[in-house]
Amino acid sequence: MVIICPNCKKKHNIDERMIPANVTRAKCKFCGKHFSLPKAGETLVIDNKARNEEKSPRKISVSLSKGGVGKTTTAVNLATGLALAGFKVLLVDTDTQGQASYMLGVNPKAGLTELVMGELEPEVTMVQARERLWLLAGGKSLAGVKRLIGRKDFGGELTLSEALGGVDKQFDYVIVDTSPGWDPLTVNILFYVTEVLVPVSLEVMSIQGLIEFLKSIASIQKYRPGVSLKYILPTFLDKRVGKSLSILGKLQNLYGNNVCEPIRYNVRLSEAPAYGQTIYEFAPGSNGANDYRELIRKVANDNKLFR
Ligand SMILES: Nc1ncnc2c1ncn2[C@@H]1O[C@H](COP(=O)(O)OP(=O)(O)OP(=O)(O)O)[C@@H](O)[C@H]1O
Ligand SMILES: [Mg+2]
Repeated sequence: MVIICPNCKKKHNIDERMIPANVTRAKCKFCGKHFSLPKAGETLVIDNKARNEEKSPRKISVSLSKGGVGKTTTAVNLATGLALAGFKVLLVDTDTQGQASYMLGVNPKAGLTELVMGELEPEVTMVQARERLWLLAGGKSLAGVKRLIGRKDFGGELTLSEALGGVDKQFDYVIVDTSPGWDPLTVNILFYVTEVLVPVSLEVMSIQGLIEFLKSIASIQKYRPGVSLKYILPTFLDKRVGKSLSILGKLQNLYGNNVCEPIRYNVRLSEAPAYGQTIYEFAPGSNGANDYRELIRKVANDNKLFR
């Protein structure tokens, strides 16, 4: 029989003959939540709402025009952390720097460019980087995608949505890493995702950069109301630097509940990429790993994860 977890909507194929008669509850091996098993006589538990929801992943971009604020570090560790938590995740690298592959220690032969250009079968453009984690790599070739978008007479802003729409249904989460600056690909990302996570480095001028970026999102929202700022993630928190805490306080006053627990400055986070490892592999007990686990709990809305 097929049972769908009421919490994370994952399907479980279960041989009912293996369930002892006195067992009435089960634990989902993906999200860890307990739920009731179907009563005797019921063979299939599929609710149609769950079936429809199952087809739509959560689509989150990690974006800010300012460079070096921890976007790629966050996208990679958010995606890998969600995969570790049991979700099936697609990480999309839309940056010509192509750093997500480097951080994950993989060397894909194809990626987002080949998917968007339709040069290869979609399945071969995605490389499996970890258990439950697939990567659509970025890199220099994305310049061709930007030219393609520019050449379109109309609908250029939907180029990414059309390409990803063909592959994203099988995932629980699609996490999009964004390059610094603002270009046609940035606009495409905001036409594709529904949630935006903005990392804000706790240094002077950071709030100004955030306000400018939020204005840009607002201008997109006029045409694409489905996208919204969901999370502000303070990064590079260094409690020894007084300004760091005062900027954090300002962010919390301005944006309240949207502000996540901060990611502390942690040298382990900057060392891990050279080994092609995520922070959970490189330094699982570090502040960096613990801070990103806290972010996963907030995004997945599950306080029990990793406890
Ligand atoms: N919390 C942290 N503590 C210490 N170092 C960090 C932290 N977060 C990121 N770093 C390091 O800071 C540098 C910039 O981070 P990252 O590449 O993630 O930023 P980015 O916003 O993606 O940059 P870009 O705008 O160029 O794409 C990297 O060397 C990274 O390893
Ligand atoms: Mg980056």
